[in-house]
Amino acid sequence: MRKKVSIVGAGNVGATTAHWIASKELADVVLVDIVEGIPQGKALDLLEAMPIEKRDVRVTGSNDYAETAHSDIVVITAGLPRKPGMSRDDLLHTNFKIMSDVVAKVTAQSPEAILIIVSNPLDAMAQTAFRQSGFNRERVIGMAGVLDSARFRTFIAEELNVSVENVTAFVLGGHGDTMVPLARYSTVAGIPITELIAPDRLEALIQRTRDGGAEIVKYLKSGSAYYAPSAAAVEMVEAILKDKKKILPCAVYLQGEYGIEGYYIGVPCKLGAAGLEQIVEIKLTAEEDAALKKSAVAVKELCAVIGV
Ligand code: LAC
Repeated sequence: MRKKVSIVGAGNVGATTAHWIASKELADVVLVDIVEGIPQGKALDLLEAMPIEKRDVRVTGSNDYAETAHSDIVVITAGLPRKPGMSRDDLLHTNFKIMSDVVAKVTAQSPEAILIIVSNPLDAMAQTAFRQSGFNRERVIGMAGVLDSARFRTFIAEELNVSVENVTAFVLGGHGDTMVPLARYSTVAGIPITELIAPDRLEALIQRTRDGGAEIVKYLKSGSAYYAPSAAAVEMVEAILKDKKKILPCAVYLQGEYGIEGYYIGVPCKLGAAGLEQIVEIKLTAEEDAALKKSAVAVKELCAVIGV
């Protein structure tokens, strides 16, 4: 039997997540949204592309969570996106209400599912989903590090005019202004980028990575990025469905790892069939450690506001 992935939120991120999953033939997809007609229409349209793409997957859209029953993974993208000038944190109260409602409905239908959280502000929304679901931390994982690292990789590849395939990069911390791109652990064909890029240029690429989401919002005006965010979520879906044991930066609930207790923050994780299978602890310099802790304080402040 094929795997089943449900996606909550049929906006740009949700619909594009469905697109990547179907085009990679990873699983049957159910797209859910409160707006009538949108999930049904987008799902049917995508389904009708499958003969051309030569992919055997079922894609359905619904306003009813009953359709999501027994999902292996549920990707939650529901919530408002940013407008120009807004920070991800400005979405806190509205998206907290939406996330709480969605998680209750999703977990009632799929008590065994793994949840991948994409809504912003990411770390606080992942923490909300973790608290409201009552799931163990292995099954509630936030997407952000893969996206932020992909942006960093894009800029590094452009800077050096090399294949993106040669570039690995790690961005840790919260998905916000305090994210922590780790230049030391970012490489081109195994060579640390600190050997290849001058410090001032590197600092510029790091800043562009931090502002990566806002750069897109500024262009789009009426919404935020969706191709790269959805591709990032799908890399996580694939790692789990195929039990790849892939190391990816994800937002997970820390219980003392990296000296942080009781908060979601982006760290290197091993993803496999069980969801979060391991948190990889790497040694940070004093400066990196301070940056990660600062990022955790920012997450903690948001979580305090919504009481999660
Ligand atoms: C971004 C939003 C999705 O970084 O958080 O583009």
